[in-house]
Amino acid sequence: MRCIRFFSVSLLLAFSPWLARAADVPYVPTPWEVVDAMLKLGTVGPNDYLIDLGSGDGRIVIAAAKKLGARGFGVDLDDNLVRTARRNAESEGVKDRAEFFTRNLFDTDMRKASVITMYLFNSVNLRLRPSLFQLKPGTRLVSHDFDMAKWTPDAKLTVDVPGKSYGPPSSEIFMWVVPANASGQWRWQLSVAGAKFDYDATFEQTFQMIAGAAQSGGRSVLLREARVRGESVSFTLMSERDGRTTRQEYSGRIVGDTLEGQAVIDGVPTPWRATRTRAGRMIIDI
Ligand SMILES: C[S@@+](CC[C@H](N)C(=O)[O-])C[C@H]1O[C@@H](n2cnc3c(N)ncnc32)[C@H](O)[C@@H]1O
Repeated sequence: MRCIRFFSVSLLLAFSPWLARAADVPYVPTPWEVVDAMLKLGTVGPNDYLIDLGSGDGRIVIAAAKKLGARGFGVDLDDNLVRTARRNAESEGVKDRAEFFTRNLFDTDMRKASVITMYLFNSVNLRLRPSLFQLKPGTRLVSHDFDMAKWTPDAKLTVDVPGKSYGPPSSEIFMWVVPANASGQWRWQLSVAGAKFDYDATFEQTFQMIAGAAQSGGRSVLLREARVRGESVSFTLMSERDGRTTRQEYSGRIVGDTLEGQAVIDGVPTPWRATRTRAGRMIIDI
């Protein structure tokens, strides 16, 4: 019995390199000029906690720590790369602020992140996408060269890379801000020209885009330019009363089922608070 167990353990150890999970993406380092541009597009600063998914030699986390005072960690399946990244962090004097772990990116707890960086494939980004929507609203996601299909980025940049090892001599950088769920029905009251009016708006949200309809006093009001960026929501209402069009620009911060900020009515700002009376589902699976 002991002999059989010994043989099974030996076999397992002998084949462990083949049993280890294969990398979903090969190792290709992000060129330095692209690293800098990614950190800039992600507005990384000293208060940020950055996680690089598939961290290679650690350059993104190390640059964020050394140049911008951020903290963070990287994960990679390749133990040799993780050791290299640790050595690089030590020689750059940031080993306390830039850590590295041998770990599958799909098993990584990302809740601490305010910024996530990726240089993976589209297919990997898409597998990750549902878990990225579980992160704190406002978390920035910055990806080198690969997008997220129908989830359009909030910002995009092209960087010239004359000596790039594959493809055209340039890199694309995409940035998304994880949106809060603003979908559902919202109600509020507002004073316009001395009179009080009730409003309600129904938001249907797909990723960070909102489509919807609004009403006031039983009449439809045109809803335009609605969008969510992290916890911030903004939209415009164009309402017509007595042959006169009023432009109302709303902006506020969503906290649970309240939306609080200001409404600018024909150029005049006034405080604004709306309450969600019916929850909706944010669509993130197209
Ligand atoms: C294209 S390289 C990017 C390296 C680094 N982020 C950079 O931009 O320089 C992708 C890295 O992801 C790692 N990787 C691939 N699949 C992984 C997985 N499932 N979990 C963790 N790391 C993975 C690879 O070993 C490789 O180092």
